[in-house]
Amino acid sequence: MRLEFEKLKSNDKAPIDLLLLADPSMELVREYLDKGTCIVVKVKGMIVGTAICVENNSRSIEIMNIAVKEEYQNRGIGKKIITYIVDEAVKDGIKAIEIGTGNSSVNQMLLYQKCGFRIVGIDFDYFRRNYSEKILENGIECRDMIRMKIDLSKDKS
Ligand code: ACO
Repeated sequence: MRLEFEKLKSNDKAPIDLLLLADPSMELVREYLDKGTCIVVKVKGMIVGTAICVENNSRSIEIMNIAVKEEYQNRGIGKKIITYIVDEAVKDGIKAIEIGTGNSSVNQMLLYQKCGFRIVGIDFDYFRRNYSEKILENGIECRDMIRMKIDLSKDKS
């Protein structure tokens, strides 16, 4: 499967429905799009995956949303999106990439660790503070945000 990556120059073409898979809040998705860069990955011209990267400062970025179309999930596309973001960050001289995920998002946590992210903290009750509706996933409440990071300034071991 040949994947084509593109950094969107305008938010008009951002795949909102796909981004909402990663985050149920349209308000937050719009906020991240305004602040960040939307990346899309296409197969034969059709968008199958996306992510939004926001600059925290000149040395650090955060992946705010990442999503792959349901029928294309579990085929390695999520991993390739993260690899693309890491490669671009290295080229741009970025020293750290952060990501946050819910305590209930166990598969996502697996993916991020396979891509080199390590747990660096927990933002307790983040989801209760920022979302009006209770989020249930894998039979438990998504309540705390697990903060993860890849430190690009260190040698990998
Ligand atoms: N069950 C078990 N393991 C999984 C699953 C799953 N459903 N999905 C991913 N993984 C793990 C596996 O360990 C896999 O490793 P392997 O290749 O060694 O087996 C690894 O993740 C890589 O999987 P990919 O196929 O690359 O992942 P995929 O293309 O499906 O993308 C993603 C993962 C983006 C999480 C996708 O499932 C998705 O869009 N989910 C819905 C939206 C979402 O939850 N986004 C993340 C929210 S948090 C945030 O945005 C910061």
